[in-house]
Amino acid sequence: MAKNVGIVAMDIYFPPTCVQQEALEAHDGASKGKYTIGLGQDCMGFCTELEDVISMSFNVVTSLLENYKIDPKQIGRLEVGSETVIDKSKSIKTFLMQIFEKCGNTDVEGVDSTNACYGGTAALFNCVNWMESNSWDGRYGLVVCTDSAVYAEGPARPTGGAAAIAMLIGPDAPIVFESKLRGSHMAHAYDFYKPNLASEYPVVDGKLSQTCYLMALDSCYKHYCSKYEKLEGKQFSILDAEYFVFHSPYNKLVQKSFARLLYNDFLRSASSVEGAVSEKFVPFSSLSLDESYQNRDLEKVSQQLAKPLYDAKVQPTTLIPKQVGNMYTASLYAAFASLIHNKHTELAGKRVMMFSYGSGLTSTMFSLHLVDTNPPFSLSNIASVMDVAGKLKARHEFTPERFIETMKLMEHRYGAKDFVTTKDGVIDLLAPGTYYLKEVDSLYRRFYGKKDGSCLANGL
Ligand code: ACO
Repeated sequence: MAKNVGIVAMDIYFPPTCVQQEALEAHDGASKGKYTIGLGQDCMGFCTELEDVISMSFNVVTSLLENYKIDPKQIGRLEVGSETVIDKSKSIKTFLMQIFEKCGNTDVEGVDSTNACYGGTAALFNCVNWMESNSWDGRYGLVVCTDSAVYAEGPARPTGGAAAIAMLIGPDAPIVFESKLRGSHMAHAYDFYKPNLASEYPVVDGKLSQTCYLMALDSCYKHYCSKYEKLEGKQFSILDAEYFVFHSPYNKLVQKSFARLLYNDFLRSASSVEGAVSEKFVPFSSLSLDESYQNRDLEKVSQQLAKPLYDAKVQPTTLIPKQVGNMYTASLYAAFASLIHNKHTELAGKRVMMFSYGSGLTSTMFSLHLVDTNPPFSLSNIASVMDVAGKLKARHEFTPERFIETMKLMEHRYGAKDFVTTKDGVIDLLAPGTYYLKEVDSLYRRFYGKKDGSCLANGL
C-alpha cells in the first residue's frame, strides 16, 4: 500500500494575455476602485482564439513531464477537472492521451470530472483514493485542472480568468493528504450554471452564489472540525493550521471567507477567539444563521478582527488568483501554487487547509501536511519549475477594447466548425514551444500544433 500519498510535483500554465482591472473598471464606467478594491482583483488572464482548455492542458502536462523527467509510461491514471464544455461526450483526457499514446502507453485509467469549480478536486480525490486502494498498479497519477472562465458583459465579467494546473500524485510526497480529515457539503442550488449549451457563458445569480459559497464554507468547516475532534481528541481552531487556501472567484470573497471562519470559531467558543476579539463578536451572537449571511456589520467587524490573521495565513496564497482571476477548477490549486511560490522554504511540518467550492453545489474542506523531501520532488523545486514570477512578468497587456474584441470573436467561435485560427497579432505573444489551436474542421475535429516546432498527432 502506498504511504504518505500526495502531490509530488506541480506545474501551472496561464495564457500570456491579460487585461488590467483598473483599465477595465474605467472602460466599463464602474466607480473607481470597484474591481480593484471592491472585488480585490489586479488583473485578468484570458484565452485568445489560439488557446483553449485543451491547448492549456497540453502545455501544462508536457511541461510537467519534461521538467520532472517523468516518462509518460510511468503514468497509470490521468484525471481531468474542467467545467469548460468543448464536447458533450469526448473527454479532455482523451485529447491528452496523444501524449501518452506516442510513447506506447494506453493503459491509463480516468476520465473528466465536472461540477463547476469543484471538478478538479473530484479528479484529485479520485487519484489519491486510487493510489490508496488495492487497484493501484504502482505508477503515478496525474491530475489536470483546466478552465477558461468567461462571463457575458456585466458585473460578473471582471471575475473571469483562465489557467491549467497539473499535479503529479505519488507516495512519500512533499504535499501529503490528511485523508481522514475531509468535510463536505453537497446540495442543490441554482447559483451559477450553464444550461445554454450554445454559449460558453454561465447564468449567474451573483448574490446567491456568494451566500451559497459562505453557507458551504460554514458547513464544511463544521464537518472538518468534528472529524478532527474525533480523531485527535481536541478542538480544532484556525490556529491549528498555518495557512488557509480558498477557491478564489475574486479576492474579496476570500477575505470574507476567512473572516467567517473566525466568526465560526467564536460561535464554537474556540481558543482562537478570546478577550477583546470575543467581546466585539458578542453583539452578533444571537443572530440566526440566515441573518448572519445578510448582516453587513458582522461582515465588516469580522473582516477587521480577522485582518492580522488573514495577512499571515491567507495573503501569501492570493498572488495568482489576484493576477489571473477565477480559473474555476484551477483556482484553488493556483492559490496553493502561490503559497508554494511565496513560502516554499518555510512550509515543512505545516498544515495547510484547502476549501474547494463548485456552484450547483459541491464543496469540501480538506487539509495537507507539508514535508521536507529531496529534489526533484521537493517544495523548492516545485516553486522553481512553476516559475510563477517569470510567467506573470512575461504576459502581454491588452487594452479593454482589444479584450472585448477577443471575447466577441470567442463567442462567435464557441461551438463553431470549419475554421482555421488567424495567427496575426496573437501567435507572436505565445512563448516558443507553446501548443495552440490550429484548426477546427468540418466535422468539429480540433487540431493543435506547437509554435515554432513539431506538431501533435494527425500529421499537423
Ligand atoms: N470602491 C471600492 N469598493 C467598491 C466600489 C468602489 N468604487 N464600488 C463597489 N464596491 C464594492 C461593493 O461594496 C462590494 O463589496 P462588498 O461585497 O464588500 O460590499 C463589491 O465592490 C462588489 O460590488 P457589488 O455591487 O456588491 O457587486 P456586483 O454587482 O459588482 O457583482 C459579483 C459582484 C456578484 C461577485 C459578480 O461579479 C458576479 O456575479 N461574479 C460571478 C459569480 C461569482 O464569482 N460568485 C462567487 C462564487 S461562485 C464561482 O466561483 C463562480
